[in-house]
Amino acid sequence: MRPELAAVLLLVVYAFVGPSTASTEASESATEQAVHVCDETNTRNWNIYCNGPILEAVNHHALFNDSKSYVDMPIRQSPDETIAAWRKIFGDTPPEKVDETKLHSFLDEYFSPPGSELVNCTPSDWIPHPPKIMQITDPKLRQWALELHEIWKHLCKQIRPEIAQHPDRYSLLDVPYEFIAPGGRFREFYYWDAYWIIKGLIVSEMYNTTQNMIRNLAHMVERFGFVPNGGRVYYLQRSQPPMLIPMVYEYYEATNDKNFIREILPVLEKELDFWHKNRTLDMSIKGRNVTVFLYRTNSNVPRPESFKEDVRTALPIPEAKKPTFWKDKASAAESGWDFSTRWFADHKTLYTIHTTRIVPIDLNALICWNYDILEYLYEQVGNMIASEYYREKRVIFRKTLNLVFYNRTLGAWFDYNLDTEQQNTMFYPSIVVPLFTGCYHALNQGKSERLFEYMQNVGAFNFSGGIPTSIIKDSEEQWDFPNGWSPLNHMAIEGLRKSENAQMQDQAYRLAKKWVEGNYRVFEKTSHMWEKYDVIGTIPRPGAGGEYDVQDGFGWTNGAILDLLNTYNDRIKLSQGYTKACTTAVPNVLVMALCLVVSVLGALLLTQKS
Ligand SMILES: *[C@@H]1O[C@H](CO)[C@@H](O)[C@H](O)[C@H]1NC(C)=O
Ligand SMILES: *[C@@H]1O[C@H](CO)[C@@H](O)[C@H](O)[C@H]1NC(C)=O
Ligand SMILES: *[C@@H]1O[C@H](CO)[C@@H](O)[C@H](O)[C@H]1NC(C)=O
Ligand SMILES: *[C@@H]1O[C@H](CO)[C@@H](O)[C@H](O)[C@H]1NC(C)=O
Ligand SMILES: *[C@@H]1O[C@H](CO)[C@@H](O)[C@H](O)[C@H]1NC(C)=O
Ligand SMILES: *[C@@H]1O[C@H](CO)[C@@H](O)[C@H](O)[C@H]1NC(C)=O
Repeated sequence: MRPELAAVLLLVVYAFVGPSTASTEASESATEQAVHVCDETNTRNWNIYCNGPILEAVNHHALFNDSKSYVDMPIRQSPDETIAAWRKIFGDTPPEKVDETKLHSFLDEYFSPPGSELVNCTPSDWIPHPPKIMQITDPKLRQWALELHEIWKHLCKQIRPEIAQHPDRYSLLDVPYEFIAPGGRFREFYYWDAYWIIKGLIVSEMYNTTQNMIRNLAHMVERFGFVPNGGRVYYLQRSQPPMLIPMVYEYYEATNDKNFIREILPVLEKELDFWHKNRTLDMSIKGRNVTVFLYRTNSNVPRPESFKEDVRTALPIPEAKKPTFWKDKASAAESGWDFSTRWFADHKTLYTIHTTRIVPIDLNALICWNYDILEYLYEQVGNMIASEYYREKRVIFRKTLNLVFYNRTLGAWFDYNLDTEQQNTMFYPSIVVPLFTGCYHALNQGKSERLFEYMQNVGAFNFSGGIPTSIIKDSEEQWDFPNGWSPLNHMAIEGLRKSENAQMQDQAYRLAKKWVEGNYRVFEKTSHMWEKYDVIGTIPRPGAGGEYDVQDGFGWTNGAILDLLNTYNDRIKLSQGYTKACTTAVPNVLVMALCLVVSVLGALLLTQKS
């Protein structure tokens, strides 16, 4: 269709539909067919959790601060009985006319509190003093690592067996084994979080729990053909960065369990099939046809767990364009980076989001790693034909990566924008993923060194608490400055550490020390581990920004720290003379003098002990 014609058509549709009514009904009558996150094809409770009058009324009245609360509440009767009861009381009353008090009593009567379908558990392979942790030399860090190890018991979740009898009364997706949840509002399993949780479980030497985590995700692949973002029905239209194959790799490296590899390989193939069939784009660049991977969900309505936020942020968007807006928001959630200026056309404002027009470097570098790991795992179980197949796939794909994402002038890989046909050369730590996954020719060390130079030049290493998620200073989004996230800092450290360049390895160590010390100081002050951290300034604190309050717990943060403490077990030591008083916000001569005395005394004591 010619663009002018499309514009006229949109105007006509817009005039016909009328001004925004902030309801999904309106969007359904627009040009695009509404695709809900769950429906008759995959759930029996879609009319409670993914669509329908209760979801709309609860959100219209903002009954809960966190939109996720309602969609996590089990129902006491079947979905049909619940809807029938609703109709009996409220009939067809539009959401805005529903009486708030009556709505409250309806929820009290027909719903249970969020999370009541999950119970805590103690993993059977949890032991008090795992040998790897006991090898950490610094006594304070070792003690801290033991406390983090203890937290696995609080994050361990098991689904109540009753839910198997009435699965349609829960938004929770039933998984067969115990798992480690991220924590806070994230009560169910999450996909890419699990990779860093597993990194930590391996340090805790909890290999059975690791295997259970993997088996749960494999169960999802068998049931739905892919791994959903998390363990709820409202995540059934989107995945998250493809880390299942890497999880299996980490498990294998720790256990050498070939039987498990043989058993799980068909499931890994099936998951990769999903990315091939459902998340690729054929494009032509510099006279060549290539296939690349994108984050792109089909759903184009407000996400139930962020319903009121999605409705509110769509207010300035013309009705006919809302489906695309919601699709791009949900696709950004699939990337794990929800939300970031990385996905915004103007790199500033959420309503210019166009995730599905951006070819992301991190996703493509992860796919490249998936091929690499499959080559290796097939070789380990003696299937040389399959191994060779993936070797070739990776060689070809590495060329694609070079062609689409590599910028020779700057010496780094960047996201590629399909609209402008340009790379986004602003700094985001996603550019370290090719380094982390080794997706460049092993003989081409110059590439990794140039990336390192680029990062130095943009000042990526200049912050006291770690690497921030962008250097765009006026964003309100959580995947931006000044927040630092565990997976990104961990991938940067590991990418640099695995290089063959001594300076890069040195920077890896300094970054690891910064990240560990920052997390430690916040833990001392708040007694909690957080989802994200503010990396600027001298007083570390939990991160902020985004759609919900910062969460504590926290699975991937703990996992990344345990892994770093294990990697650098005899090297990272808390800075000499570090005490709580020294971090006081008010610099004061007396306090500083005291710090000096304490550190000298501390150092003396330490030398005497050893
Ligand atoms: C919602 O947030 C406000 C302000 O942060 C707080 O005062 C209120 O208690 C919260 N309400 C609920 C139901 O959590
Ligand atoms: C780990 O799993 C194996 C195999 O299922 C089982 O035999 C063993 O008892 C488990 N170990 C612990 C500590 O749970
Ligand atoms: C992937 O796409 C195929 C059609 O190409 C479709 O049948 C299938 O349901 C999709 N899978 C998922 C998980 O969306
Ligand atoms: C790329 O694809 C287009 C359309 O499918 C085709 O016409 C063209 O010949 C292809 N180019 C190359 C270099 O294969
Ligand atoms: C590579 O970076 C240079 C320098 O910033 C820029 O001018 C050029 O457009 C970039 N290449 C692409 C394909 O975006
Ligand atoms: C980062 O720090 C280095 C070394 O202290 C300094 O030379 C450089 O100018 C800084 N870069 C930025 C962008 O702040």
